Amino acid sequence: MQRRELIRLGLVGAAATLVAPRQVLAGVEGSPMAGGVYYTQDAPGRWSKKVAGHLPMIEVDKDAGKVKVVTGHEMKGYEHYIVKHTLLDGNFEFIDERMFDPMKDAAPISEFALAEYSGPLYALSMCNKHDVWLNMIEV
Ligand SMILES: [Fe+2]
Repeated sequence: MQRRELIRLGLVGAAATLVAPRQVLAGVEGSPMAGGVYYTQDAPGRWSKKVAGHLPMIEVDKDAGKVKVVTGHEMKGYEHYIVKHTLLDGNFEFIDERMFDPMKDAAPISEFALAEYSGPLYALSMCNKHDVWLNMIEV
């Protein structure tokens, strides 16, 4: 894939993450569990200053059948790191997960096969200090 195409997909993915899922996310953000059991951009609870480094960003490349999840978080050994990414479907059913090794993985980036799935796609990112963060994208 050409670099320009990757950049375009990245921009589309970022735009979709920021715009399209707001209505669907409203359901999970309106839950009494949001901001307490799990955290979102609009329900960061006690971690309101930690959104940027913990919210998983989701990019979908439908042509390649792949989903990429990125958390902009440091991997500071076992002291502070992202433990794993988990991908869930629109019914919150488990699709796949990627565990990270803070001694080997330089950044919490994961890729998953998308296959023929369409609908809401949720990503969870778990920090060993700042709990579980949820984001979603409409595929
Ligand atoms: Fe953290």
